Parts: sequence; structure tokens; C-alpha cells
Amino acid sequence: MAVILFSNRMNNRDRWRVYKRVSVMFFLAVVALTVVQRGNISMEAPFKIERQTRMDASEGVDRAASLQLKKGLETIGFWKASNPQPVPKAHTTTEEPSITEDHSLSHWDVTSSNCSANLNITGQEWFMNLESNFQQFLLYRHCRYFPMLINHPEKCAGETYLLMVIKSVATQHDRREVIRKTWGKEQVVDGKRVRTLFLLGKPSNEAEKANHQKLLEYEDYIYGDILQWDFLDSFFNLTLKETHFLKWFDTYCSNVRYIFKGDDDVFVSVTNIFEFLQSSTHTKNLFVGDVIFKAKPIRKKDNKYYIPQVLYNNTHYPPYAGGGGFLMDGPLARRLHWAADTLELYPIDDVFLGMCLEVLGVIPIRHNAFKTFGLVKNKNSKLNREPCFFKNMIVVHKLLPSDLMHMWNLVNSDLICSQKSNFLN
Ligand SMILES: *[C@@H]1O[C@H](CO)[C@@H](O)[C@H](O)[C@H]1NC(C)=O
Ligand SMILES: *[C@@H]1O[C@H](CO)[C@@H](O)[C@H](O)[C@H]1NC(C)=O
Ligand SMILES: *[C@@H]1O[C@H](CO)[C@@H](O)[C@H](O)[C@H]1NC(C)=O
Ligand SMILES: *[C@@H]1O[C@H](CO)[C@@H](O)[C@H](O)[C@H]1NC(C)=O
Ligand SMILES: *[C@@H]1O[C@H](CO)[C@@H](O)[C@H](O)[C@H]1NC(C)=O
Repeated sequence: MAVILFSNRMNNRDRWRVYKRVSVMFFLAVVALTVVQRGNISMEAPFKIERQTRMDASEGVDRAASLQLKKGLETIGFWKASNPQPVPKAHTTTEEPSITEDHSLSHWDVTSSNCSANLNITGQEWFMNLESNFQQFLLYRHCRYFPMLINHPEKCAGETYLLMVIKSVATQHDRREVIRKTWGKEQVVDGKRVRTLFLLGKPSNEAEKANHQKLLEYEDYIYGDILQWDFLDSFFNLTLKETHFLKWFDTYCSNVRYIFKGDDDVFVSVTNIFEFLQSSTHTKNLFVGDVIFKAKPIRKKDNKYYIPQVLYNNTHYPPYAGGGGFLMDGPLARRLHWAADTLELYPIDDVFLGMCLEVLGVIPIRHNAFKTFGLVKNKNSKLNREPCFFKNMIVVHKLLPSDLMHMWNLVNSDLICSQKSNFLN
């Protein structure tokens, strides 16, 4: 009896100590973050993604999407309906990877960040005529993998039905915070486990690197949901984030059924993801999102997505899904890792993934419930505030953290939506 009491007391004391430690850490992290955010650091990510600009290249496609959307909303649960889009087929080409279930790799095997610039190209005329950001990209394009700074090999232990991975940067702490409280909450639904991870590189602001890194480590200490690699978080390095995740997934996650991959400024309905997956007839090669077919590379130099001819010489991109949010199955992700390693890196991450799908002969599926290229052209559209619209969607781009919280609460309240919504008019 005495022993039991004693051990109980110890447990309680231990627990109390842990609580206290976590609370203090959390408090420190919040204070430090506040200081940093109030300070002189520009909290804007240097590569704030304005996907709107890219829509110009696919205007026709986008308008078609709006029409489909209009049609779609008139049917209840329309996002469940299978889309009359091309069914992805795995062509068995000679290039098909011979993936075996035997993964010799069981840990992240990259330990050196030492990769020097490729000076072979610097003297060539086409290179000298390039813009400096493309020069920078090409000089280091052969540096494919970097060591991990924060890892969670245990994250995929056991069976996971849905792994949510979210691209983020060190400074966007508030976005991660809201995601953890809303759609990124780890849970078990009908016995199916949902897990969440954030993907980060190194903070790009040289002066504040050390601070942000410390804060990020505190954050990870508290939540244990951050993967970080030793490359700079920059716009062109988003492709590295893609390839590093695929390699990480292939290394650690053999028991994950589906992956949702997206940005940290989107609204996601996990309920709708579940319903979609359960009604989906795809047993293999599922890749679904806001897919663009026949997008043209942008050749206007002042555009964020400008690509010079020497980098991409075709008239069209392969079909690709907007990186704001898409779903794929686990086995396909492992094959994509293989495919990615056969290609040279391309500076636009979602296009790069489209190229990988092409290598595998998989055609991504376009679905109306994924709105990652922006809803409608008009930013003041009522749709942006219409909870019944969000309730019908899987991903909607793009929301401030406070708006996300607000919309989440509305959508998950006793919201009554008429079957036939006419707020589009
Ligand atoms: C604040 O930011 C500006 C612009 O980036 C910079 O010129 C200035 O040196 C910074 N001041 C401090 C105290 O860091
Ligand atoms: C990195 O590589 C370069 C060239 O290969 C070498 O000179 C340098 O010593 C290396 N640095 C480290 C820290 O390993
Ligand atoms: C540069 O050229 C040399 C000799 O052709 C080659 O061995 C090396 O791999 C090249 N470096 C890169 C980064 O492509
Ligand atoms: C990507 O990250 C690497 C490693 O930090 C860095 O050397 C390289 O300059 C970055 N590339 C771009 C295009 O920012
Ligand atoms: C693009 O490809 C065509 C046909 O292969 C070739 O004639 C042309 O020189 C290429 N242009 C560039 C800028 O590489």
C-alpha cells in the first residue's frame, strides 16, 4: 500500500514537473515569437506565393472550372461523384520502376551538406545571359539531398490512414498553430489514424536565422510534428521540399494509405477527404487535385513563374496539380520518389511533380472540390465568406490564420446548407 501511494505521489510529482516544464517552454516560445514578430523582421515569406498570376496562363481552363463548379454545387455531395476526367492508368512502359517491397533504407542516409557549385556551366553564353536567380538555381541544381535537422522517424509507426503534410516556413508559426487546432488535428476517425507533419527548410533571413531556429526547435519539442532539412527555404527550393518529402516518406512510411499534401494557408475539410476516399473507386495510382491540363510555361519576364526557354523548351507542361493541396496514395508516393530521382530538378515544384507523374504514366485527376488556384477572379466574391461553400470543398486556397479559424468554426457549427446553393450568382 505504502509503495503504491509512494509511487503515485512520484508519478504525480513527475507529471507536474513535466507539465511545468512544457508550460514554461511554451510561454518562452510565445514570448520570443511575439518579440520577433513585433520586431524588425519582415514576416512575409520571401517567396509569398501568388498563384493568381499563374492563372493567367490557364484562363480558359479556369473559366471552365468555374462553370463546372456552378454545376457541381447544385448536386448534393457533388465532390463525391466521380469525375468524368481521364482515369489514371499506369502504362507499363520500359521505364517503369522495379519497386520492390524490400526497402533497404531505414534511416535518412544523407549526412553532408557540402555541395559545391557546378562551375562547368558558368563560362557558357546561355548561362551568362540568364537572370541571376536562374543562375543560382542551375549552379546548385545537382545538389539533390541534404541532411535532416529535425526528424520524426516514429511518425509513421503503425498503420496510418491519412498523413497530412504541410509546406511551411519557420516564420509562419501562427499558421501552423491554427492548422493544429483545425484541420490538421491528429485524430482517429472510425479506427483510421490521421497524422500531421510540417515540412521546413532553413529560415532564409540570415540575420534572424538563429532565433527562428531556436523557436522552431521549441515548437517541435512541444508538438513533435516538424520535419526540417538543411536547405534554404526559398521559392526555387520548394522542389527540394517535394523530393525530400518523397524520399523521407519512402524511407519511413510503408504503412500509410493516403497522403494529403498542401500549403499552410489553405482550408481543408478532413470529413470530405474521408468521404471522397471511401467512395473512390481508384485502388491504385490515385492522384487528385486542382489539375491543369496543357498549361503553357510563362515567358513574361516579370511574372513570378517565368521560365526561360533554356530551362524548358516544350510548349506545354504535363498535367499537374496546384501545390496548394492534393491527395495521393502511399504506394504512388513511393514510385514518385523513384521517378523524381530520374529527372533534373525543375524550379516550380508542382510542375516538377507533374513531370514525375508523366514518367510513371499516371494522369492526375482533376476534381472540383480542390480550389488551389484561387476561387474566382474577384477577390471580393461572396464565396470567400460563404461557409456553405467551404463545407462542400476539400481544399480552398487561401486564408489568413484568423479567417481559417473563423471559417472552421462556422463550418463545424450546426450549419444548415440548402442542397441547391445559389450564392454563386
Ligand atoms: C530594420 O529593417 C530595415 C529594413 O530591412 C533595416 O535597414 C534596418 O537595419 C533594420 N533595423 C534593425 C535594428 O535591425
Ligand atoms: C566541402 O567540399 C570542398 C570541395 O569538395 C572542400 O574543399 C571543403 O573542405 C569541404 N568542406 C567541408 C566542411 O567538408
Ligand atoms: C563537371 O564536369 C566534369 C567533367 O566533365 C564532370 O565530371 C562533373 O560531374 C561535372 N559537374 C557537375 C556538377 O555536373
Ligand atoms: C537551395 O538551398 C541550398 C542549400 O541551402 C542553397 O545552397 C541554394 O542556394 C538554394 N537554392 C535557391 C535557388 O535558393
Ligand atoms: C528548342 O528545341 C528546338 C527543337 O528541338 C531547338 O531547335 C531549339 O534550338 C531549342 N531552343 C532552345 C532555346 O533550346
